[in-house]
Amino acid sequence: FPLTAADVVDDAPVIPVIVLEEVARAVPMARALVAGGIRMLEVTLRTPAALECIRAIAREVPEAVVGAGTARRSADVQAAARAGARFIVSPGYHPELGRACRGEGLALLPGVATASEIMAAGEDGFEVLKFFPASAAGGAALLQAWSGPFGDVRFCPTGGIHPGNAGQYLALPNVACVGGSWLTPARALAQGDWPAIEALAREAAALRPQPR
Ligand code: 3PG
Repeated sequence: FPLTAADVVDDAPVIPVIVLEEVARAVPMARALVAGGIRMLEVTLRTPAALECIRAIAREVPEAVVGAGTARRSADVQAAARAGARFIVSPGYHPELGRACRGEGLALLPGVATASEIMAAGEDGFEVLKFFPASAAGGAALLQAWSGPFGDVRFCPTGGIHPGNAGQYLALPNVACVGGSWLTPARALAQGDWPAIEALAREAAALRPQPR
């Protein structure tokens, strides 16, 4: 049965935002993240290898749930669905993107950074949103301000989040989880340092809300 956006954000405190240059890295990386306790994996459509990486993880790592990030156009959604992605993350929102995800039966975390974008996504039924770019757009203070008018909306802030500030975001009542690229450093991927990635995942999976 299809995954909901709530399933995606409620699985762990962190969704890794992954940039893969080489297909051969995808499967061992996914296994390392799963071994560390993180199984919702956002593979960004930023590299020529991304779709093949999604396909490989979907086929060979059944314990992982692979999604596609940086989806900007409806065509991205269709290609990701064909590759086996189970959810979609976008940096912004457009109704066509929402329609495409509905059409493919895929959960969508639409990206928002303003009240009007939250309202546009809400009009189309999306109430679990990515807040991007979180630290540049206003950080925890903006999330706190949104909790008044948008008290029923939950967010996955992403952009500028790291182990040092993740706990402060997670302490906010309207934050379900955070997203970040720190779990899969380019260097560790290039070197095949799977123990390092597993350790980063384990640390991320253990993150807890931390009031400032
Ligand atoms: C994203 O696409 O969500 C961001 O590139 C991730 O931001 P970060 O690199 O600051 O974690």
